[in-house]
Amino acid sequence: MLNAVERKIEQYIYELNDAYVSSLYRRLPHGKRLRSKLILKIAGNSLKTVKTAATVEMIHGASLLHDDVIDDANRRRGVISLNASSGDKTAIMMGDILYSKAFFELSSISPLIAKVISNAVVQLSLGELADVELSKSFHTNRDAYLKMLYQKTASLMEASAESAAILAGKPRNVYRKYGRNLGMAFQMIDDILDITSNSKTLGKPALHDFFEGKVTLPYMYLYEALEEEDRVYLLSLYRKRLNEDEALWIRTAMNKHEIISKAYFEAKELIIEVIRLMESLGESDLSNIAKEMIEREF
Ligand code: FPP
Ligand code: MG
Repeated sequence: MLNAVERKIEQYIYELNDAYVSSLYRRLPHGKRLRSKLILKIAGNSLKTVKTAATVEMIHGASLLHDDVIDDANRRRGVISLNASSGDKTAIMMGDILYSKAFFELSSISPLIAKVISNAVVQLSLGELADVELSKSFHTNRDAYLKMLYQKTASLMEASAESAAILAGKPRNVYRKYGRNLGMAFQMIDDILDITSNSKTLGKPALHDFFEGKVTLPYMYLYEALEEEDRVYLLSLYRKRLNEDEALWIRTAMNKHEIISKAYFEAKELIIEVIRLMESLGESDLSNIAKEMIEREF
């Protein structure tokens, strides 16, 4: 049924009646469509569900186009990013087109769902701004980081699951919690993979977060675990393009202080909570999605 979501997005793009925009859209790589999966698993395959999933994916795609401009990224999902191939202006406008068309469509799906999703996009934008601010200097402000993570990533998953629950007449708060925990864990694991994976698997350079100024949980925990001299060395690598020795130093220090397992355990706790919740409701597909998330390649 994910196919139906793809077709719906293509239809929405076709309705814009702009050959250039259609050609730009065709060049964008699709992600895992995780938000659509959640929506379809929670609410089934009705036309309203497919439309809701399509709008969420368009909003998510728009946010990534803008994010790549903000992060000055070269690659997205293993291919050259639109800002890098066609310039920032094109990427920004393509993002604007995707998300304004998505909102136009949302307004005729359901006022309540439009409200839930537009509120998440406000959070998304607040989160991206917080991310920019937090990336300006090294910090160990875990609360600020987790709040930003919730806003930037979990809020749209939370809103997707809640919207689907509204469509299906299921308890909103329970599914909100599911989407929220999944979103938090997803981003926490993404932060871990940035350190443990190679660039080929990631589709973008490895150990890139620290270079971009992003002090993710493993870096905070590492800083706290290090002696003064090593702390100074770690800080000297912040925002630096790392050579092989420096990258190895970070990975070795993370290993020595068991940082990855500590960060992974935190993500796992969030996931276990929702696996139990979904199993108690007989939602085995949803608990399986959660299980798959903690089994991503490390
Ligand atoms: C990726 O973060 C970024 C997001 C999940 C959200 C970006 C949100 C905005 C730009 C707000 C504007 C919203 C709209 C709808 C236009 P990341 O840089 O940590 O992850 P990455 O490694 O995938 O780039
Ligand atoms: Mg980015």
